[in-house]
Amino acid sequence: MTADTRSDESGIDLDDIGTNPTANPSFSDLIASRLSRRSLFGLGVGTAGTALLQACGGGGGGGTSFPILPPAPAPAPAPAPAPAPAPGTAPLKLDFNAVAKSLDDVVSVPAGYTASVLYRLGDPIASGVAAYKNDGTDDATTYDRRAGDHHDGMTFFGANASNKWDPANASRGLLVMNHEAITPLFLHPTGQTVVGGVRTVADEVLREFYLHGVSVIEVNKSGNAWSYKQDSSFNRRVHTLTEMAFSGPAAKTDYLKTRYSTDGSKTRGTLNNCANGTTPWGTYLTCEENWAGYFRRIKANDDPKRSAKEIASFNRYGVASTGRELWATVTPDTADNLYGRWNTEVIGATATDDFRNGANTYGWVVEIDPFTPASTPRKRTALGRFGHEGACLGPVAVGKPLVWYMGDDSQNEYLYKFVSTKAWDAADIGGGIAAGDKYMDDGKLYVARFNADGTGNWLELKLGVNNITAGYAGYAFADAADVVINARHAADAAGATKMDRPEWTAVNPKNGEVYLTLTNNAARTINGTDAANPRFYNDPKGPAQTAQKGNPNGHIVRFADTAGDPAAVTFKWDVYLFGARSTASADVNLSALAADNDFSSPDGMWFSHAAPGLLWLETDDGKYTDVTNCMLLAALPGKVGDGAAKTITNVDGPTTATQATFVGKAPGTDGLRRFLVGPKDCEITGIAESGDGRALFVNIQHPGETTPAANIGDPSKFGSHWPEGGTARPRSATVVITKNDGGLIGL
Ligand code: FEO
Ligand code: CA
Ligand code: CA
Ligand code: CA
Repeated sequence: MTADTRSDESGIDLDDIGTNPTANPSFSDLIASRLSRRSLFGLGVGTAGTALLQACGGGGGGGTSFPILPPAPAPAPAPAPAPAPAPGTAPLKLDFNAVAKSLDDVVSVPAGYTASVLYRLGDPIASGVAAYKNDGTDDATTYDRRAGDHHDGMTFFGANASNKWDPANASRGLLVMNHEAITPLFLHPTGQTVVGGVRTVADEVLREFYLHGVSVIEVNKSGNAWSYKQDSSFNRRVHTLTEMAFSGPAAKTDYLKTRYSTDGSKTRGTLNNCANGTTPWGTYLTCEENWAGYFRRIKANDDPKRSAKEIASFNRYGVASTGRELWATVTPDTADNLYGRWNTEVIGATATDDFRNGANTYGWVVEIDPFTPASTPRKRTALGRFGHEGACLGPVAVGKPLVWYMGDDSQNEYLYKFVSTKAWDAADIGGGIAAGDKYMDDGKLYVARFNADGTGNWLELKLGVNNITAGYAGYAFADAADVVINARHAADAAGATKMDRPEWTAVNPKNGEVYLTLTNNAARTINGTDAANPRFYNDPKGPAQTAQKGNPNGHIVRFADTAGDPAAVTFKWDVYLFGARSTASADVNLSALAADNDFSSPDGMWFSHAAPGLLWLETDDGKYTDVTNCMLLAALPGKVGDGAAKTITNVDGPTTATQATFVGKAPGTDGLRRFLVGPKDCEITGIAESGDGRALFVNIQHPGETTPAANIGDPSKFGSHWPEGGTARPRSATVVITKNDGGLIGL
């Protein structure tokens, strides 16, 4: 095993380390302007009664063919009435018996539901590729036509008989999903072969190259059962060897020049694809999260050859390790630098002789057109370079700009949004990558500041504004490309709010409000809390009551852009939900969670399209796993401001400190209920539904991932055997959930 960063929640994890050294606002340092909550929340969002539609993440479209709405109304001058339900829509009601917390090695769903395995690690997606043996001996050259590992963010694109995007399609579609990372122990005969810090078996490395990235698979419903079509011409794997083009401000600049692309116009591959996003023209967005750890850069060798700016950039993004999986260590290298490309040190005379800029070619949102299998994916540099968790499309309106909300998943990182310059024209539906060029290469990138009074500001990241200048002490910005490549430095300069690890964003189709999971933060200190990241506490784990301090259980912030306009530069916010053990004290269990809905470390999150207002919440937890495996919960959230201002008391041994915040209305078990618990040592992530909402696709990532390497020879000591059971090696997989009576899921 390598000293790596692969696990989200176990071992050493770049997410958990964080590389933000700034003293950016900590709201205990700011003087709150004391606006009354009534005046803040009485404004409404200006969209009451308007059925907002969007296509974030899971795609689909319910019974509504496409997300279009009229231009947003002007800000309401006076308090607006509560939003009326859409015509003909009864209030939603959760209608299932909660699934109990569990440590079993199974997927548990409520009575009346069926969860079936659809698509597992290694499953073949082309004719002539053999079934996966799952013993580490499958031919490495076939893995570009097999399911990847660590299934993650996912979208269902309904497809009609003409093979065009049909969001409402309930029986056929293209399921597109990320494969974030790998559990190498189970991929090779006896785990990774590493001799003296060097990978010595090239076939093992080739498997790993192919097992990262994205799958596109055709799925079909027959009777009540879903399956993928092994020989569909749409099936495709995008992986670390797939050619990608750059567009936007950084494309064809010196920063992206490599031996592979001497003009900086392209790169090879995508990896650590975490959450996802969609576009209103029908393409998929995959987001590069913890890419930094994959690059080899030994500081002692490389720093002397670098400028102060380059070193500042590497430090801010954490590019300074032996390289997670040690891909750069294989010798001899190939003529096209299959292995050497992962070494991002200065080796040659110029940038076109080596891969000194290799790390600049990762960290982007990547657009893939699933309906055009031969198309070249695009890395959209206008959306900034950071640890991209996901890119959730905001409300879509003809004649208005498009917006995507994006988290940067590391401790104390930020929330961003991108607003297109071009206004949406529904004639671009089906426009593929060319439509992406129109809307995603030109726009404004913003970062969020959450103010102590419940308001917020979107700060533009652009050369010459918000302290983003050549004279900024932390990083001397040179041009527009420098700003997007070093978006974290730009956000530091602008004064963004450090958050408790921003994961997924989701947009409520009922009112356009945006939700942001903040999974946990071990670096939050008792004197470093702020209104939007208000908790510091200890969540002792297991029989030894091992201390877990900071914000170990995470929370979910939500906000409403002013006047319901996603292009607005101000917003108001509250905390929708706090993760906690139900047995925790009242100042920790602030949402009054109970046995049927307590959870820790929220990550994946998505609003149903078929049932507007229904929120799905997934966990990627290592803190409450003494009591339960990770889970999926169904929720019916209210709106920003439905709770109250509250001052909480944080405790660290003998030290106490108070922190004011805004706590959303406690959900109760009518508003939040556990729907699924996964097998051992897994993360629940990725979620999508068929066009009618009668099938829910959910990913089970890395069951058994913390199995010690020494146990590979003894199946009785594997951390999980899911999904095959017996003595099988565990496999990440997609499951499809249906209600036995054919109804909507969860309702
Ligand atoms: Fe890959 Fe942020 O979870
Ligand atoms: Ca993960
Ligand atoms: Ca995630
Ligand atoms: Ca996570």
